[in-house]
Amino acid sequence: MSKLEIKNLHVSVGTQDGPKPILKGVDLTINSGEIHAIMGPNGSGKSTLAYAIAGHPNYEVTDGEILLDGENVLEMEVDERARAGVFLAMQYPVEVSGVSVSNFLRTAKTAIDGQAPPLRTWVKDMNTAMEGLRMGTDFAQRDVNTGFSGGEKKRHEILQMQLLRPRFAILDETDSGLDVDALRIVGEGVNAAQAETGAGIVLITHYTRVLQHIKPDFVHVFVNGRIAEEGGPELADRLEAEGYDRFLQAV
Ligand SMILES: Nc1ncnc2c1ncn2[C@@H]1O[C@H](COP(=O)(O)OP(=O)(O)OP(=O)(O)O)[C@@H](O)[C@H]1O
Ligand SMILES: [Mg+2]
Repeated sequence: MSKLEIKNLHVSVGTQDGPKPILKGVDLTINSGEIHAIMGPNGSGKSTLAYAIAGHPNYEVTDGEILLDGENVLEMEVDERARAGVFLAMQYPVEVSGVSVSNFLRTAKTAIDGQAPPLRTWVKDMNTAMEGLRMGTDFAQRDVNTGFSGGEKKRHEILQMQLLRPRFAILDETDSGLDVDALRIVGEGVNAAQAETGAGIVLITHYTRVLQHIKPDFVHVFVNGRIAEEGGPELADRLEAEGYDRFLQAV
């Protein structure tokens, strides 16, 4: 069992006009095996939270703590965080030309495990995961995300999650732009990875539809850089029906 604790987190983003405070005291604890959905209006700071946990250099933590099994995550470099088992599926995955999916995944796996995966099982694992996500094998030879459709980029994020086997996965709008079938396939992929590894998952989303596939234990409403309300899956249905008005009026 592992625990990722976020305590009173304050984060500023670097802008042309200097640091701009975005997160204003976020408290969130995720245990292994738990699924936490984070929902909230555009610009409320959800991706900022994801970047701050992963260690993006443009996001400065000005107060608070992030602990992984009691260890100070904020003192770790980005790659150390990844090796410690923290995985981020980005809202806007970046294109990396000149690096094939196959090379990228093997390099990442080697870096995270501290040793290269045995070639025979690795190729088999990669092909099985790609098949499960209905990604044709030609994707393995293509440059990372280059020319991928929106949905293909999202599947590639889940492919990484399945192969890298993180302890905690933050999935930032992994459901956005997916067609109905892809949503189910990606949902099954996340569930399969979680069942195998017992990972804790933070699922940032705007839509309840994905929550029919990936069932959250907890739902958090993110408003203006803070968690404004917490509840179970029923809270997501209420948000879908009512929107965020009652939270925004209080801001
Ligand atoms: N480089 C920057 N310069 C100025 N403002 C920024 C910068 N980066 C982020 N912000 C602001 O920080 C706020 C939070 O952004 P963030 O991406 O975390 O929101 P979000 O909740 O993920 O929104 P969405 O639902 O649209 O993805 C936004 O108002 C955004 O404009
Ligand atoms: Mg976002």
